[in-house]
Amino acid sequence: MIRPLANAMTAAALILCCAHSTTFAEGDGSPLHDKMEQMGKALHAVTKQLGDSSKKETTLALIAKLRTNAAAARELTPTKVKTIPEKNRAEFMADYKAAMDDLISQIDRLAIAVKENKPEAQQAALKEIGETKQDSHVTYRSKQKEHSTESSPGEKRNGEHSSKEREDD
Ligand code: HEM
Repeated sequence: MIRPLANAMTAAALILCCAHSTTFAEGDGSPLHDKMEQMGKALHAVTKQLGDSSKKETTLALIAKLRTNAAAARELTPTKVKTIPEKNRAEFMADYKAAMDDLISQIDRLAIAVKENKPEAQQAALKEIGETKQDSHVTYRSKQKEHSTESSPGEKRNGEHSSKEREDD
Protein backbone atom coordinates (compact mmCIF):
# COMPACT_ATOMS: atom_id res chain seq x y z
CA MET A 1 0.00 0.00 0.00
CA ILE A 2 2.82 2.35 0.81
CA ARG A 3 4.71 1.67 -2.42
CA PRO A 4 1.99 2.98 -4.82
CA LEU A 5 1.82 6.13 -2.72
CA ALA A 6 5.59 6.55 -2.90
CA ASN A 7 5.49 6.05 -6.67
CA ALA A 8 2.75 8.65 -7.00
CA MET A 9 4.82 11.11 -4.96
CA THR A 10 7.87 10.46 -7.14
CA ALA A 11 5.76 11.08 -10.24
CA ALA A 12 4.45 14.33 -8.74
CA ALA A 13 8.00 15.45 -7.94
CA LEU A 14 9.06 14.71 -11.52
CA ILE A 15 6.15 16.75 -12.89
CA LEU A 16 7.12 19.70 -10.67
CA CYS A 17 10.73 19.35 -11.77
CA CYS A 18 9.74 19.42 -15.46
CA ALA A 19 7.46 22.41 -14.92
CA HIS A 20 10.47 24.25 -13.46
CA SER A 21 12.59 23.30 -16.50
CA THR A 22 9.99 24.90 -18.77
CA THR A 23 10.32 28.20 -16.93
CA PHE A 24 14.09 27.91 -17.02
CA ALA A 25 14.02 27.46 -20.82
CA GLU A 26 12.14 30.73 -21.16
CA GLY A 27 14.93 32.73 -19.49
CA ASP A 28 14.06 33.35 -15.83
CA GLY A 29 16.41 31.28 -13.70
CA SER A 30 18.67 30.50 -16.66
CA PRO A 31 22.41 30.80 -15.91
CA LEU A 32 22.57 33.99 -18.00
CA HIS A 33 19.54 35.47 -16.26
CA ASP A 34 21.20 34.85 -12.89
CA LYS A 35 24.42 36.60 -13.97
CA MET A 36 22.37 39.51 -15.29
CA GLU A 37 20.50 39.80 -12.01
CA GLN A 38 23.86 40.02 -10.19
CA MET A 39 25.00 42.70 -12.64
CA GLY A 40 21.77 44.60 -12.05
CA LYS A 41 22.28 44.58 -8.29
CA ALA A 42 25.93 45.66 -8.55
CA LEU A 43 25.18 48.46 -11.04
CA HIS A 44 22.31 49.74 -8.91
CA ALA A 45 24.54 49.91 -5.82
CA VAL A 46 27.38 51.57 -7.78
CA THR A 47 25.00 54.18 -9.20
CA LYS A 48 23.75 55.07 -5.72
CA GLN A 49 27.18 55.66 -4.16
CA LEU A 50 29.33 56.73 -7.10
CA GLY A 51 29.76 60.37 -6.02
CA ASP A 52 30.69 59.44 -2.45
CA SER A 53 34.50 59.33 -2.27
CA SER A 54 34.36 57.94 1.30
CA LYS A 55 32.94 54.74 -0.26
CA LYS A 56 35.63 54.41 -2.92
CA GLU A 57 36.79 50.94 -1.83
CA THR A 58 33.30 49.42 -1.69
CA THR A 59 32.49 51.10 -5.02
CA LEU A 60 35.54 49.43 -6.57
CA ALA A 61 34.50 46.07 -5.07
CA LEU A 62 31.02 46.47 -6.58
CA ILE A 63 32.52 47.36 -9.97
CA ALA A 64 34.71 44.23 -9.72
CA LYS A 65 31.54 42.19 -9.03
CA LEU A 66 29.89 43.78 -12.06
CA ARG A 67 32.90 42.88 -14.21
CA THR A 68 33.15 39.28 -12.97
CA ASN A 69 29.49 38.68 -13.76
CA ALA A 70 29.77 40.38 -17.17
CA ALA A 71 32.77 38.17 -18.05
CA ALA A 72 30.77 35.08 -17.01
CA ALA A 73 27.70 36.28 -18.94
CA ARG A 74 29.86 36.66 -22.06
CA GLU A 75 30.41 32.88 -22.07
CA LEU A 76 26.69 32.06 -21.79
CA THR A 77 23.96 31.93 -24.41
CA PRO A 78 20.90 34.21 -24.55
CA THR A 79 17.57 32.36 -24.50
CA LYS A 80 16.62 34.29 -27.65
CA VAL A 81 19.13 32.26 -29.71
CA LYS A 82 16.41 29.60 -30.10
CA THR A 83 14.37 32.07 -32.19
CA ILE A 84 17.30 32.88 -34.53
CA PRO A 85 17.50 30.84 -37.77
CA GLU A 86 20.27 28.24 -37.54
CA LYS A 87 22.35 29.84 -40.31
CA ASN A 88 22.46 33.19 -38.44
CA ARG A 89 23.22 31.86 -34.97
CA ALA A 90 27.02 32.03 -35.16
CA GLU A 91 26.82 35.68 -36.20
CA PHE A 92 24.27 36.40 -33.43
CA MET A 93 26.60 34.88 -30.82
CA ALA A 94 29.68 36.71 -32.18
CA ASP A 95 27.80 40.01 -32.02
CA TYR A 96 26.59 39.19 -28.50
CA LYS A 97 30.16 38.56 -27.33
CA ALA A 98 31.36 41.78 -29.00
CA ALA A 99 28.66 43.78 -27.19
CA MET A 100 29.71 42.14 -23.93
CA ASP A 101 33.35 43.05 -24.67
CA ASP A 102 32.26 46.68 -25.13
CA LEU A 103 30.49 46.55 -21.79
CA ILE A 104 33.57 45.08 -20.07
CA SER A 105 35.78 47.87 -21.51
CA GLN A 106 33.31 50.46 -20.23
CA ILE A 107 33.29 48.82 -16.78
CA ASP A 108 37.12 49.01 -16.80
CA ARG A 109 36.95 52.72 -17.68
CA LEU A 110 34.54 53.25 -14.79
CA ALA A 111 36.96 51.53 -12.39
CA ILE A 112 39.86 53.70 -13.57
CA ALA A 113 37.77 56.88 -13.20
CA VAL A 114 36.87 55.88 -9.63
CA LYS A 115 40.50 55.03 -8.77
CA GLU A 116 41.61 58.40 -10.16
CA ASN A 117 38.79 60.37 -8.48
CA LYS A 118 37.47 61.76 -11.76
CA PRO A 119 33.72 62.46 -11.37
CA GLU A 120 33.15 63.52 -15.00
CA ALA A 121 34.83 60.41 -16.38
CA GLN A 122 32.81 58.33 -13.90
CA GLN A 123 29.54 59.80 -15.16
CA ALA A 124 30.62 59.35 -18.79
CA ALA A 125 31.45 55.67 -18.22
CA LEU A 126 28.20 55.10 -16.34
CA LYS A 127 26.25 56.67 -19.21
CA GLU A 128 28.01 54.41 -21.74
CA ILE A 129 27.23 51.34 -19.62
CA GLY A 130 23.57 52.34 -19.48
CA GLU A 131 23.44 52.83 -23.25
CA THR A 132 25.14 49.50 -23.98
CA LYS A 133 22.77 47.77 -21.61
CA GLN A 134 19.71 49.35 -23.17
CA ASP A 135 20.77 48.74 -26.80
CA SER A 136 21.89 45.18 -26.05
CA HIS A 137 18.65 44.30 -24.33
CA VAL A 138 16.73 45.41 -27.41
CA THR A 139 18.88 43.14 -29.59
CA TYR A 140 19.64 40.10 -27.44
CA ARG A 141 16.79 39.74 -24.97
CA SER A 142 13.54 38.10 -26.00
CA LYS A 143 10.68 40.39 -27.14
CA GLN A 144 8.60 39.83 -24.02
CA LYS A 145 11.46 41.04 -21.81
CA GLU A 146 12.13 44.09 -23.97
CA HIS A 147 8.53 45.13 -23.73
CA SER A 148 8.24 44.56 -20.00
CA THR A 149 11.32 46.53 -18.97
CA GLU A 150 12.70 48.76 -21.71
CA SER A 151 9.81 51.21 -21.55
CA SER A 152 10.75 52.16 -18.00
CA PRO A 153 12.04 55.76 -17.83
CA GLY A 154 14.44 54.68 -15.05
CA GLU A 155 16.38 52.47 -17.43
CA LYS A 156 16.90 55.31 -19.88
CA ARG A 157 19.08 57.28 -17.45
CA ASN A 158 22.75 56.48 -16.82
CA GLY A 159 22.40 52.71 -16.55
CA GLU A 160 19.74 52.99 -13.86
CA HIS A 161 17.44 50.02 -13.52
CA SER A 162 14.07 49.24 -14.92
CA SER A 163 11.24 48.83 -12.45
CA LYS A 164 11.51 45.02 -12.80
CA GLU A 165 15.22 45.07 -12.00
CA ARG A 166 14.66 47.30 -8.94
CA GLU A 167 12.12 44.82 -7.60
CA ASP A 168 14.87 42.21 -7.67
CA ASP A 169 17.32 44.24 -5.56
C1 HEM B 1 25.53 46.58 -16.76
C2 HEM B 1 24.79 46.25 -17.80
C3 HEM B 1 23.63 45.29 -17.72
C4 HEM B 1 22.78 45.06 -16.68
C5 HEM B 1 22.76 45.72 -15.32
C6 HEM B 1 21.84 44.04 -17.12
C7 HEM B 1 20.81 43.55 -16.34
C8 HEM B 1 19.93 42.57 -16.73
C9 HEM B 1 18.87 42.02 -15.91
C10 HEM B 1 18.57 42.47 -14.48
C11 HEM B 1 18.25 41.06 -16.63
C12 HEM B 1 17.12 40.15 -16.15
C13 HEM B 1 15.82 40.85 -16.03
C14 HEM B 1 15.22 41.16 -17.34
O1 HEM B 1 15.23 40.32 -18.25
O2 HEM B 1 14.70 42.27 -17.46
C15 HEM B 1 18.90 40.98 -17.93
C16 HEM B 1 18.56 40.10 -18.93
C17 HEM B 1 19.29 39.93 -20.09
N1 HEM B 1 20.36 40.70 -20.51
FE1 HEM B 1 21.27 42.16 -19.46
N2 HEM B 1 22.17 43.66 -18.39
C18 HEM B 1 23.25 44.39 -18.80
C19 HEM B 1 23.90 44.33 -20.00
C20 HEM B 1 23.62 43.42 -20.99
C21 HEM B 1 24.38 43.27 -22.22
C22 HEM B 1 25.60 44.15 -22.62
C23 HEM B 1 23.81 42.25 -22.91
C24 HEM B 1 24.20 41.63 -24.24
C25 HEM B 1 25.37 41.83 -24.83
C26 HEM B 1 22.69 41.74 -22.11
C27 HEM B 1 21.86 40.70 -22.46
C28 HEM B 1 20.81 40.22 -21.71
C29 HEM B 1 19.99 39.08 -22.10
C30 HEM B 1 20.16 38.25 -23.36
C31 HEM B 1 19.04 38.90 -21.09
C32 HEM B 1 17.95 37.81 -21.01
C33 HEM B 1 18.53 36.57 -20.30
C34 HEM B 1 18.32 35.27 -21.08
O3 HEM B 1 18.39 35.28 -22.31
O4 HEM B 1 18.14 34.23 -20.42
N3 HEM B 1 22.62 42.48 -20.96
N4 HEM B 1 19.92 41.90 -17.96
